[in-house]
Amino acid sequence: MTVAFDLFVRNCAELVTARGTLSPNQKAEAALDIIPRGAVGIAAGKVVFVGPEADVPPAAVAPFTEVVDADGGVVAPGLVDPHTHLVFAGERSAEFDLRNQGATYLEIAKAGGGIVSTVRATRAASLEELVALARPRLVRLLEQGVTTCEVKSGYGLDVETELKMLRAVQQLRREVPVDLVPTLLCAHAIPEEFKANREGYVERCIREIIPAVAREGLARFCDAFVEESAFTHDEARRIFEAARAHGMRIRLHADQLTANGGAQLAAEVGALSADHLEQVSDEGIAALARAGVTALLVPTSTLFLRMRPYAPGRKLVDAGVNVALGTNVNPGSSMTENVGVVLSLACLENGLSAAEALWGMTRGAAIALGLAQHGQLVEGGPADLVVFGCSTYRHLPYHLGVNHARVVVKGGRVVVRPGGAGVAVCR
Ligand code: NIG
Repeated sequence: MTVAFDLFVRNCAELVTARGTLSPNQKAEAALDIIPRGAVGIAAGKVVFVGPEADVPPAAVAPFTEVVDADGGVVAPGLVDPHTHLVFAGERSAEFDLRNQGATYLEIAKAGGGIVSTVRATRAASLEELVALARPRLVRLLEQGVTTCEVKSGYGLDVETELKMLRAVQQLRREVPVDLVPTLLCAHAIPEEFKANREGYVERCIREIIPAVAREGLARFCDAFVEESAFTHDEARRIFEAARAHGMRIRLHADQLTANGGAQLAAEVGALSADHLEQVSDEGIAALARAGVTALLVPTSTLFLRMRPYAPGRKLVDAGVNVALGTNVNPGSSMTENVGVVLSLACLENGLSAAEALWGMTRGAAIALGLAQHGQLVEGGPADLVVFGCSTYRHLPYHLGVNHARVVVKGGRVVVRPGGAGVAVCR
């Protein structure tokens, strides 16, 4: 029996399904599985038809069906941003200026700036203030087609503020039509009050912060910044062990500022993703490939920190690693919600093809978050999609810094429309 569509998206020059699987014989372009002149039918918040428009059963388009004409544009799964620090208070434009005059990220951090300065501002903000600050950032992502977004804590570094940040994520989830995936990042930096007692802080993470967050079910993942200036391998291992015992899965900031074996640690602990990887070694790449860990690249932070090299995206893909891309929105190393710039830098500097970049913000990113059905358009899957006003997906990275999204559908509902009443935010 033909199911009548609630929503019918038609006239797509390219319908990107991303329903394929990457393998040595199937590269991203094939895994995107693009249908020319395609259409999508949606009923009861789920995709019920994906295919050539010519194959749509006539009875499926009913008088009540809302029709979205893609006008010869590209239709893709709703984008997935798998690495953000969206919830924070304060700003660090003075540090940006200092870096542009030669100071480094680490020098600024050692002088009392960096992450701990955002911690001071975030501790001082109320839950409502954090939500109000994060909401427009999230809406900016949604307006570009992001329908699923990971959000980390990590600017609290004490029980109360880590809980406050993750409760802010819960609140945002109720207000903005984006699926939010919360991550506990209590191991982001050693807080100032524990500078002379880092062991005391690691113990606090293990005995207080992780259990408190788990009690409220506030985080799906636990992350750690493994770096000379942050946490050692052993400290991260202990924190991950505690997080895992509380039902959280693992991801980590690896090999960002120094080559420190972070990728190998990600492989050892069974992380879903190793993020950053600017300094990853060949051994690290091989370890990620063997363990099936996603390499999650955040090229806007390489740009923003004026660092070289960019993460070796080409090598990672060629080694058979799933590569995902994120905006890494945060006040220190990537003050941007611009998805287009991420896709462009991934091609220009990480060496990815346009197809690999789009995979990295659709299915590749969903895999990094352990999401079985997101980031692709399949019958029975979530009805999250974006209509881009360009004739080929290659324009997404090619036309740099432009928001091509015209219509965004979340859970079968149009939440962004051109010249429309704006994004549907419930307050
Ligand atoms: O992913 N590297 C650590 N964390 C962030 C930066 C956070 C900050 O500087 O506030 C990142 O780049």
